[in-house]
Amino acid sequence: MNRIKILGSGLARGSQKVTNFDLEKRVETNDEWIVQRTGITSRYISETENTSDLAVRASLHAIENAGLQKEDIQVIIVATMTPDSMTPSTACLVQAKLGLNDYPILAFDLNAACSGFLYAFQLACDLLNRYEHILVIGSETLSKIINWDDRSTCVLFGDGAGAMIVTKGQSQLYHYANSEGDLDGVLKTEGLPLVHHLQNQLPTVGFLTMQGNDVFRFAVRVLKESIENVLEQAHLTIEDIDLIIPHQANYRIINHVAKRMKIDISKFYMNLQDYGNTSAASIPIAYAEACEKGLMKDCKRVILVGFGSGLTYGATLIDQ
Ligand code: ACO
Repeated sequence: MNRIKILGSGLARGSQKVTNFDLEKRVETNDEWIVQRTGITSRYISETENTSDLAVRASLHAIENAGLQKEDIQVIIVATMTPDSMTPSTACLVQAKLGLNDYPILAFDLNAACSGFLYAFQLACDLLNRYEHILVIGSETLSKIINWDDRSTCVLFGDGAGAMIVTKGQSQLYHYANSEGDLDGVLKTEGLPLVHHLQNQLPTVGFLTMQGNDVFRFAVRVLKESIENVLEQAHLTIEDIDLIIPHQANYRIINHVAKRMKIDISKFYMNLQDYGNTSAASIPIAYAEACEKGLMKDCKRVILVGFGSGLTYGATLIDQ
């Protein structure tokens, strides 16, 4: 098991703040319904910046507060389900936009939907056997794949990016990751279905669709399972944990987990009320914001935990 240090973190929001009241003008919904069912009051939507642009902004913050130069980065991993393009990868675009073309860099994307950052972070920690400074990013422009006429999904999501730089250090890690691919239909965005070009069929790109109740039940089950798994590995109990940074999907999901596991809800860091669900970006945005607020200084043990389309899920316990 390797030991790491998180050298720095940063975040970027979409440029336009969209409140529940703004959405009332677009679809048949209201602030009260959205707040009661999700806890969300606003989200940020990107007007001109694509996923790579948000990723670059978050990365520049992370590099600056890590006290590094851009040139120190040797690996760029971007967790995203909304890349700028099928190819090149968003990570390669980030490399270019950071001006790092002339440096040897391993750059690639990873898609595990809302669990993407957790998967990428776990992988990055393993790559520290070969590289010194790794930039791990979660970045999404979910507004591209949302049907803005579908009230059951459009109220939930937002655009943003979070970044972390990891290196070898003293913090001990306990990882857990899992996926249940047979639940693929519960939360889905069609990509490039096979079409018969000779019969003049055109490829289509779909919107995100979701069976909300199924996702809710799944989320509560796997968040509990993931937290329990890393606690067991570390031989710790929940009382030993200072802060839990969950995927920021829905207040009610987190509250259910807190009640079921008898965890004080104040142990969960939440900013979903302001950001909505930013998928792979949600955990690193929350982490960076908690750092900005000085909350991480007094935290010895932190759990990052999430779930996403796939379905995918997992947790990492960081014992500093
Ligand atoms: N405003 C007003 N009414 C709405 C809205 C809306 N935005 N959306 C749905 N409704 C209506 C429905 O049409 C339905 O009306 P009906 O009874 O007349 O048919 C009614 O509200 C209840 O719909 P439900 O889907 O049963 O509402 P529910 O209480 O389950 O809440 C929600 C829906 C918030 C999506 C919930 O299922 C949930 O939180 N699921 C978890 C999903 C989630 O968080 N996904 C995030 C993405 S997953 C990820 O991050 C990996």
